[in-house]
Amino acid sequence: MPVAARRGAAIEIVHLRKTFESGKNSVVAIDDLSISIAPGEFVCFVGPSGCGKSTLLRILAGLEEPDSGEVRIDAAEGGVRNAMVFQEASIFPWKTVGDNIAFGLRARGMARAQYTARVDEALRLVGLSRFRDHYPSQISGGMKQRAAIARALVTDPAVLLMDEPFASLDAQNRAILQAELANICEQTGTTVIYITHSLEEALMLGDRAVVLTAQPARIKDEVIVPFPRPRDTIEVSATPMFGELKLRMWNVLEAEVLQARREHEGV
Ligand SMILES: Nc1ncnc2c1ncn2[C@@H]1O[C@H](COP(=O)(O)OP(=O)(O)OP(=O)(O)O)[C@@H](O)[C@H]1O
Ligand SMILES: [Mg+2]
Repeated sequence: MPVAARRGAAIEIVHLRKTFESGKNSVVAIDDLSISIAPGEFVCFVGPSGCGKSTLLRILAGLEEPDSGEVRIDAAEGGVRNAMVFQEASIFPWKTVGDNIAFGLRARGMARAQYTARVDEALRLVGLSRFRDHYPSQISGGMKQRAAIARALVTDPAVLLMDEPFASLDAQNRAILQAELANICEQTGTTVIYITHSLEEALMLGDRAVVLTAQPARIKDEVIVPFPRPRDTIEVSATPMFGELKLRMWNVLEAEVLQARREHEGV
């Protein structure tokens, strides 16, 4: 987004715990999770399905209350604190693509003359310029997800919370948006928490890639991603280091995925 560079927020997560009560059962989704994230850092989380990743993001977004522990988001005054891109495309069906993207800016009291150029830029970025006046029912699932990404980016948040944002996109748009997202975050200094099931994506996008345990989510391993930016996807993925890091993460993750499967099957 063509906005003045502004540093992202620092995030401090301390001894976080979250349980869900469903009937007689209680599910521990997150247990004793602590991590410090620097302003402008891009941190990717991978972990088995059902381990508590979306729950972590929802707590960071303030949509869910933890049982105990603390989340501190140290954002500068004034701007939007955080914006979230959900696992399922979530845009208002009764608003056009353009009005969906403008929503956060209008909510902050911005007049049409002020936000039009920013909405245009966001539309261009996600490749939806021609669909500004379409309704969500008139565009594909991948296009809806791109609109949701634009709606989050356009507000220039101090923290961007992304829950498998590109999982439903076709490979070409995914590659384009990955590169754009990396560029934008580098320029704006936005702090990003990014959830993915793809180790390649975590190593390609992240400054740090964190592997979570099977439910309840705790930190099992973390990799400081050494590739300089801007990263060329093809070049980076051809390096021996990329293969080594991917293998290391897979070895850690595989054990957790198998553990999660055993738990789900009740054995
Ligand atoms: N509102 C809720 N009520 C009861 N249980 C919940 C609720 N939300 C999540 N859970 C449970 O908490 C655990 C973690 O769920 P969460 O959605 O955070 O997993 P996830 O890591 O995002 O999984 P996936 O990779 O499949 O998206 C799961 O066992 C889930 O069933
Ligand atoms: Mg999830």
